[in-house]
Amino acid sequence: MVDTAANREHAKTLLLHEPAGGDPTKLTLVRAEGSLVWDDAGISYIDCTAQAWSNNLGANDPRVIEAAIEQTRAITHARPTFHTPALLDLAELLVSIAPAGLDRVGFTLHGSMAVEMALKLAMRNRPGAQHIAILHDAYHGRSITTMAASWPHPDNPFGPIQARFLRLPRPDLYRPRAGLTPEQDTELTLGLIRDVLDRGTDGPVAAIVYEPIQGNGGHNEFLPAWHRGLRQICDEYDILLIVDEVQSGLGRTGAIWASDLYDIRPDILVFGKGVGGGFPLAGVLTRAELATFRSGDDQLTFGQFPISIAAGLAAVRAILDDKLSETAAEHGRYATGRLLEMKERHPLIGDVRCPGLMVCIELVRDRVTKEPATEETRGVFLEAQRRGVIFGENRYAGLGNLIKIKPPLDISHELLARSLDVLDEALTEVERRYGRD
Ligand SMILES: Cc1ncc(COP(=O)(O)O)c(C=O)c1O
Repeated sequence: MVDTAANREHAKTLLLHEPAGGDPTKLTLVRAEGSLVWDDAGISYIDCTAQAWSNNLGANDPRVIEAAIEQTRAITHARPTFHTPALLDLAELLVSIAPAGLDRVGFTLHGSMAVEMALKLAMRNRPGAQHIAILHDAYHGRSITTMAASWPHPDNPFGPIQARFLRLPRPDLYRPRAGLTPEQDTELTLGLIRDVLDRGTDGPVAAIVYEPIQGNGGHNEFLPAWHRGLRQICDEYDILLIVDEVQSGLGRTGAIWASDLYDIRPDILVFGKGVGGGFPLAGVLTRAELATFRSGDDQLTFGQFPISIAAGLAAVRAILDDKLSETAAEHGRYATGRLLEMKERHPLIGDVRCPGLMVCIELVRDRVTKEPATEETRGVFLEAQRRGVIFGENRYAGLGNLIKIKPPLDISHELLARSLDVLDEALTEVERRYGRD
C-alpha cells in the first residue's frame, strides 16, 4: 500500500521553491471558504492574507465557482486572436468602473505580466524615450523585468540580463529624512525627482510607475501632495503615469481604485489579484488616445484564459453588487481603531497603517530609534498561526518586521474581531518572551 503522507513529505524536498531543508511552518491547504482555510490535518485558520492579498472576494464564492464551471464546460482555451462573450462583457464592465478617462482594457494572467504590458505600452507611445522610472522600495513583480523594477533583490544573480530602471526616491512617512515632517519630506522628494529629471538622465523618460500604497516594499503610504506632485511632474515632462493597482485595486483600500481614493488620474492603470476571484487574471486600463499594441507586441498563448475571464466577470460583479469597497472601509476603520488602542498597550507596535483593509503594523524594538523588531515579528506570526490566524509577513530584504492584516473584504465582523484578539494575545506572549511587557 502506498504511504501517501510519507510520499508527500518526500515530495516537499523536490520543490524548487522550498528553502533548503524545507519550511516546517508551511501548511498544506486542502480547502477554503470565505475567509477560512483548512490544512491537511483538518485544522481551520482565519486567512488574514487573502492568500496573496488576492481573494478580495472570499475564497470559493459560489458565484465565481459556478461561472468558472459553466465556462469550463463551454470552452476552456481560446487563443488571443479570438474573443469569448465573457471577455467582451468584462471589458465593458471594467471600463465602466475605471477611473475617469481610462477606456481601453487589455488582459493577461499575472500582475507581473500586466506591469510588463504597461511598460510595453509606454514604450510604444514614447518611442524615443530611453528610460522608465520606478520608486525606491517599489514592488512590481517577479518576472525578470518587473523584478528589476522592484527594490534591489538581495544577492541578485539575474542582473546581467535585466533591464535598467531609473530609480527615484520616495518620501517616508514613518522615517522622514533628516528630522523633516512627512509633509516636508514629501515636498523635498518631489524636488529631488525634478532634479533627477532635469540633470540626472541622458534622455527622455517614457513613464513613471508607482504603487499608490507600496505593498511588498514595506507598506508605505503617501500624502495627497505626493500623488498630486507626481501627476504634475508627468504633465510637465510629458511622461506617462503608470499606477500599479495590482494590490490596491478592486475595493482593497475602501474605494474601488486607490486612484479614486487619492484622485491620481493615471494614464495607465495596472490591475490583478482580486479581479480574478481566486483565478489568475490581470491587465491594464488605459486612455483611448494612447496607441494600442500592434500584432505580435503582446500575445501569450493563455493570455486571455476563458475560465479566468469568466471567473473574473463574476468576481467583479460580486464585488460591486456586495459593495465590498464600502465594507472594506468599514472593516478598516474598526481594525485600525483596535490597533491604535493596542499600540497604547504594546510597546512593540511602532506604527499602524491602512487604508481600508490594506492594514499593517510595523514592529520596532524602540519607538525612538525605530529599530526593526524582525525576530519578534516572526514570533508574533508563529504564535498567531498556532492560535488559528494567518497574518501576512515579509521575510526578505530586511523587511521582516511587518504584520499585514489583509483578509478578504467580505470577512465577517466576528472573524475580524477574533483575528485582532489573537494578534493582541500573540503580541502579549512575544513581549513577555522578550522582556518587553
Ligand atoms: C503592486 C504589485 N504589482 C505587481 C505584482 C505582481 O503580481 P503577480 O504576482 O500576480 O505577478 C504584485 C504582487 O504582489 C504587486 O503587489
